[in-house]
Formats: sequence, structure tokens, C-alpha cells
Amino acid sequence: MPNPATSPSTATARAPSNIAFVKYWGNLDDAARLPFNDSISMNLSAAHTTTTVTFDTALRTDTLTIDGRAYNPQHAADAVAIARVTHHLDSLRGLAGTTDRAAVVSVNSFPMGTGIASSASAFAALSVAAAAALGLALDERALSTVARRGSGSAARSVPDGFVRWYAAATDHDSFAASIAPATHWDLHDVVAIVSRAHKAVGSGGGHALAASSPLFAERIARLPARLAAVEAAIAARDVAALGEQIEAEALELHAVAMTSRPAVLYWDGATIELLHHVRRWRADGLAVWFTLDAGPNVHLICEGHVAPAVAAALAHLPYVESSLDNSPAAGARIIGPGEGRGPGAEHA
Ligand code: PMV
Repeated sequence: MPNPATSPSTATARAPSNIAFVKYWGNLDDAARLPFNDSISMNLSAAHTTTTVTFDTALRTDTLTIDGRAYNPQHAADAVAIARVTHHLDSLRGLAGTTDRAAVVSVNSFPMGTGIASSASAFAALSVAAAAALGLALDERALSTVARRGSGSAARSVPDGFVRWYAAATDHDSFAASIAPATHWDLHDVVAIVSRAHKAVGSGGGHALAASSPLFAERIARLPARLAAVEAAIAARDVAALGEQIEAEALELHAVAMTSRPAVLYWDGATIELLHHVRRWRADGLAVWFTLDAGPNVHLICEGHVAPAVAAALAHLPYVESSLDNSPAAGARIIGPGEGRGPGAEHA
């Protein structure tokens, strides 16, 4: 419980977004966000969210400000976002034994709606900041579990560097943990933004439809071998082995989405153009591979020394609006007073 003598109690956390090499697609339990399968990702250095949570007895409702815009509870879309934050904070308030409302102020280092998963960084930062502001002593596993309930992939933004999120049938057993620190390998994700249009079907809708695809069971059956190969490629810093796996994996995920009922088609014309370019560039000697999340933008995966050439090649393509070069990043951290003391500190 926050100390009433020091109310309002506040904390600020920063969390990275992440790119999955083996994707989360489909839930055993949609409400609890318990995934069907393990997934593996890398935290992104240039795409992060910084969130300050201030619990204040004077507030009658939770308030939400993102990138300088105060969300208006009278507007339907804003009210949905505020309700999702309130629902998330309620579980932490329950643990702390308080009903105090909070002001949540969030700033993204990248524009929302660019196909970079802002919900992963947002719910990781919100969970870590809120737990600290409430004085809850949660370890990294507990914080990852809490973040997962807000947005599945947020579980992977809590630990450091390269991360595996474990599927499980029970809430407290599905969490993410680091498989290698950010310093392990200078692997880059150059995100090519080809569209800023809002997705017709968000990831939540996609997860709910996944099992309706006739290819879904086949994908799940192949995943244990895929997960082992991706983890081994990361351990060995073998970019060609990793690249081969992640391209096949991204195409399998999209094959499931495209064959769901109703079908979900995330690609634009520019997406498919770019996939062909990546293959041509590789045939010409540029060591770069692609992956895709639930959207039209393309993530180009390469080692750090190749990233400037990849960004330069993208700059020549008229349909690529911009690109964002990411290296591996640490996980969610409290910043400000106590800077550097992350939830993973005890494992370091
Ligand atoms: O965490 P969500 O519900 O936004 O789902 C993320 C889904 C993918 O980005 C397509 C895959 C992944 O594992 O990040």
C-alpha cells in the first residue's frame, strides 16, 4: 500500500518494444492472454515508451495522456483505452490493497500506428512504473506476468535483450525471461515503414481468429523445432541460420492469418514489393532477412555492420516512408531516482 504520508506516490519506467523471431499468434485463453505457443524476441533500442504513474487520493478516475494528448473519457475510442489502463491497474491496486486512482503519462520514442508494437512497450512500462509507485516488490518474472495480462507481447519487453516467453495453461506460469543479454550480439532490426494506415484487424482480433485457420494446427506442430533452431542460432550468433528461420516463420504466421475465417490480409502492395527486394539484395550479397508483425511494415534483420547499407537501400524505394534502425536493448527499467535499478537487476 502506498504510504499515505507521501501520497501522491509516483514512479517512471522506460520499456522497449520488441520484434518477435518466433511469433505469438493465438491464445489458449483470450482474457488472460495465455498464448498457444512460446515465442522469442529481441528488444528494440530506438522504439521505447516512457511512462510515469502517479497514484493520487485526489483523483476520482484514472487519467491517461499519451504523447502530450489527454485522453477524453467522453470520446468512445479514448474511453476504451482508459478502461484498458484502469483494468490493468486494478490488478496491481488489488495486490497493494489500495483503490487510489492514477494519472498515467506516456511518451513514445516512435510514432504510434507505424506497425511497431507500441502496446508491448506501453504495457511493460505501465506495469513496472505502477508496481514501483505502489511500493510492490515484484521480481522480473512477476512483472513480466503482469505485463502479459495487459498485452501479450509486453511480457517480452520486461527482461533484457533476447527473450523467450513461455506458454502455459496457468496465469502465473506464463512469463518471459532473457535467453541472452542485449550485449550478446549486435543484431539489428531496420524497420521499413510503408504504411501508417490503421489496421482493419488488430492483433487481438487476429489472435481470436488464429485457430479457425486449417493451417493453425500444422503451425503449432512445427513450432518446437522452430523455437529450438532460433534459440540455437541466437546462441551461435549465426545470422544466416536465424534469417532462414525467421522468414519461414513470418510467412507461416501470415499464411495462418490469410486462411483464418474470416481471412486477415495484413500486406500492402509495398509489403510484397519489399519482400522481393530483400531476396534480391540477399542474392546480390547483402546479408539481410525479413520478418513481419501483424501489419504491412517490414522488419529487416541484419548484423550491425550491414545496417547502414540496408537503410541506404531502403532510402531509394519511393514507397518506403522512413526507416528506424534498432539494436538490441535492455528490458524495462525504473528511471529517474534509482536509475539503472531494473527489475532484472537481481539476476544480473
Ligand atoms: O501482443 P499483441 O497482442 O499485440 O500480439 C503481437 C502479435 C505479433 O506481433 C504478430 C507477434 C509477436 O509475437 O509479437
